[in-house]
Amino acid sequence: MKSILLIEDDVAFSNMLKRFLEKHNYKVSISYGFEDAKATILKDDFDLIFTDLRLPDGDGLTLLEIVKKNKEKTPVILMTGYAEVSTAVKAMKQGAIDYISKPFNQDEVLHVISNALNSSNQTAITTKKVEKKETKINSDFVTGISSTSKKLNEYIQLVGPTDMSVLITGESGTGKEVVAKFIHKLSLRKNKPFVAVDCGAIPNEIAASEFFGHKKGSFTGAINDKKGHFESANHGTLFLDEVGNLSYENQIQLLRALQERRIKPIGSSEEIEVDIRLITATNEDLLKAVEKGQFREDLYHRLNEFTIKIPNLNERKDDLIIFADYFLSKANETLNKNIIGFSDDVLKVFHNYSWPGNLREFGNVIKRATLLTSGDFIQKKVLPTELTQDSTVSDLPLQTKSFSTKDNEKDLIIRALEQANNNKTHAAKLLSVTRKTLYNKIKEYNISL
Ligand SMILES: Nc1ncnc2c1ncn2[C@@H]1O[C@H](COP(=O)(O)OP(=O)(O)OP(=O)(O)O)[C@@H](O)[C@H]1O
Ligand SMILES: [Mg+2]
Repeated sequence: MKSILLIEDDVAFSNMLKRFLEKHNYKVSISYGFEDAKATILKDDFDLIFTDLRLPDGDGLTLLEIVKKNKEKTPVILMTGYAEVSTAVKAMKQGAIDYISKPFNQDEVLHVISNALNSSNQTAITTKKVEKKETKINSDFVTGISSTSKKLNEYIQLVGPTDMSVLITGESGTGKEVVAKFIHKLSLRKNKPFVAVDCGAIPNEIAASEFFGHKKGSFTGAINDKKGHFESANHGTLFLDEVGNLSYENQIQLLRALQERRIKPIGSSEEIEVDIRLITATNEDLLKAVEKGQFREDLYHRLNEFTIKIPNLNERKDDLIIFADYFLSKANETLNKNIIGFSDDVLKVFHNYSWPGNLREFGNVIKRATLLTSGDFIQKKVLPTELTQDSTVSDLPLQTKSFSTKDNEKDLIIRALEQANNNKTHAAKLLSVTRKTLYNKIKEYNISL
């Protein structure tokens, strides 16, 4: 399979093009900007580089220069706007193998690519190597491009390789477990076990035996020796999910084990030394629990050497397309489908919806839509009704706000009207007022529509 590096900052367009090319049996990697592309070109080998002329942090001509200098044999195709043909010609003089003007159609792009590949057979040798080398590690963790995601990723990259205890907070479905696993993968313990324990699912009475194990016969029901999670995770990472659910008694036992770095299975007389890194997650406010005396402060500090807060999906909307694309690839794979992308109005719905179930909900929606789609693109009609019916309503924090002061009242009305595309019935609904009230207010504030 021939590998293509696609360099294009328009996320929606590049993902669509990627999927289209993959459907035609190319292996496609994307860079969204100059710097990233440069690093990728220097690091990996590709059979073809397909780059936009204009990138937010550089241009295609300079990239062409870099390719010619470092990967001489790799053919480069430039994508240009209509008005840039003269630049494209210049590019060809400098060694680009071809150019294509946007917008282009599907046949055109396939034609240009296969031509370019055929005229540079020498590069074929490098292909096999690339396919093998492609790192799998990142494939289960999507980084995102929103500023919130960049910050998140920075923290993860920083704390990952250390041995610090990390407390991950975030609402349901935001990706706490995924982040925990990724942190483990970044650490020196990556080849040792990652053991995830859902503290919310363990009854208090058996928590100690779950954590520390027990000897056969040590209590009724202990019919065999059992290894505890601490021992199973030895030299690796122990991930305690919903740690706020541990009883006070269990918190004490946990703290003791962490401080002493040794545990004693129930009914055993021997202590076992354990070396584990601890990552915990919670979707409740642990500090509040500390204040209320429900969670031990000393344990809280022991768990919280570093905190990572994962944002809600609606705080990282710039990532929507990247996640949509990722979930679609996954769904295509599991359902044995070959869907290329999303129609524009589907992307709009994704954008307007509030995603209370965060990434988990997003993944489920896309999987279901993939199953229901028979054409090349996912259309609005296969989305669940809660997304399409009141996508705008649920997105609006407006609803919860009341008309408290005159100042914000006008503001709220204007925002609601914008959100509803000036549809007054819809705007009134968003504001939880009658249409008549809305009309009166529009008049009162002299709002022009
Ligand atoms: N960074 C990411 N990259 C790829 N997929 C992700 C990412 N974050 C979350 N997901 C997806 O979202 C789903 C939910 O993630 P996860 O189970 O980690 O959430 P959670 O915060 O632990 O949720 P809960 O609080 O309900 O347990 C995962 O199955 C995965 O598909
Ligand atoms: Mg979880």
